[in-house]
Amino acid sequence: MSKKNKTAKLTIGTTGQELELPILSGTQGPDAIDVTSLYKEAGVFTYDPGFMSTASCDSGITYIDGDKGILRYRGYDIAELAKGSTFVEVCYLLLNGKLPNKKEFNEFNRTITEHTLVHEQIHFMYRGFPRRAHPMAILSGAFASLSAFYHDSLDINDPAQRDLSAFRMIAKVPTLAAMAYKYSIGQPAVYPRNDLSFSENFLHMMFAVPAEEYKVDPVLAKAMDQIFILHADHEQNASTSTVRLAGSSQANPFTCISAGIASLWGPAHGGANEAVINMLEEIGDVKNIPEFIKRAQDKNDPFRLMGFGHRVYKNYDPRAAVLKDTCSKVLKALGQINDPLLKIAKELEKIALNDDYFVKRKLYPNVDFYSGIIYKAMGIPTSMYTPLFALARTVGWVAQWREMMEDPAQRIGRPRQLYVGEKPRKYTPLSKRK
Ligand code: ACO
Repeated sequence: MSKKNKTAKLTIGTTGQELELPILSGTQGPDAIDVTSLYKEAGVFTYDPGFMSTASCDSGITYIDGDKGILRYRGYDIAELAKGSTFVEVCYLLLNGKLPNKKEFNEFNRTITEHTLVHEQIHFMYRGFPRRAHPMAILSGAFASLSAFYHDSLDINDPAQRDLSAFRMIAKVPTLAAMAYKYSIGQPAVYPRNDLSFSENFLHMMFAVPAEEYKVDPVLAKAMDQIFILHADHEQNASTSTVRLAGSSQANPFTCISAGIASLWGPAHGGANEAVINMLEEIGDVKNIPEFIKRAQDKNDPFRLMGFGHRVYKNYDPRAAVLKDTCSKVLKALGQINDPLLKIAKELEKIALNDDYFVKRKLYPNVDFYSGIIYKAMGIPTSMYTPLFALARTVGWVAQWREMMEDPAQRIGRPRQLYVGEKPRKYTPLSKRK
């Protein structure tokens, strides 16, 4: 919980009114001036499009220090979790605020595993989509439709039902995502297998076919698990804020997560990893890198180095640091260590990290820089990159939604506006209008 221990003085220029506003301190990070009473006391709003300086809630889930390149879930460093934990354990951590003991882990793992099947009717629903449908369109629709299938977990005021819907969403999202892929290539959906781990099972549902046995490569399963861990939560980004705002009206959790998926689909949010691959292919050869670096610095050229820069990180994105290493391991396991795209990516990174333009603006590789190369090497098509992001982020959205629902101070989210439209004017009937 935040603490009030300081105040800020505000003088309203138009009226001369002086106000003392509480300053809230969290456990880490910048303080926040509490302006909740501002309108009531002074009749003015704050103005902050894009929420550049606005904290929208209290949260104890994820901490980011963008200047230092720090990302922590529930106090644990992301690199440590990526190295030593599993995605399912991270799900438990994000939802419950602590690491599970063995018994708690086994129980949780069993619960998630046992909820991976989706209602058989959902297979028929998928068949209504065109084969060319983007998997994000299917995923967003499928999530909203879960509320039509699971009536027994829609009561948001019942903690047991909130838990059940959380488990269902985390467990079913890999099945729904893999089904969307299989549908797009005309192959039968592959049912989940309870003897496999979360990530092994996902790879199995993506790549197995009924005609032959599919063996999951442990290096790829570990890489997949790490990618899921790295994408599991990122505090109040656009899609998470969308989930919270949708949930603030007491909407059911399945539709709230569906709204989050829609927000993530936007190219400014979840779509950049695909753009990195396109860029590396366009560069084509290490010898062309200087030309592209020059273009990225040219204000008259819209080209940007995809996978570089971040709104919050003004340092190396800690997720990219983990993925750089994972990328080498995956390509080695697949015998693709001489992959030309990886060669271009590594050289591009080296040049950019030493170039004045990028250094001055603190433009470092972000999480998308290496994830696309890993996906490509694994044989995952580009249209599935954003669904994979959604798959991993579902637990973050669910944890944030649950945290909001458990907050006694929770109320409907309702931003205000600075009206810049017409002043009052008289209506003229159509017959009298020129
Ligand atoms: N290549 C070249 N120049 C860049 C880049 C880039 N990738 N990113 C930022 N800049 C420059 C801008 O031109 C600007 O220069 P100026 O100060 O001379 O005008 C300066 O750096 C600051 O850039 P902004 O756009 O103001 O930074 P902002 O925080 O708004 O944008 C963003 C962050 C959108 C991520 C941006 O860096 C970008 O477009 N990167 C490429 C796309 C990308 O990789 N997106 C994925 C982000 S990670 C994620 O969403 C999971």
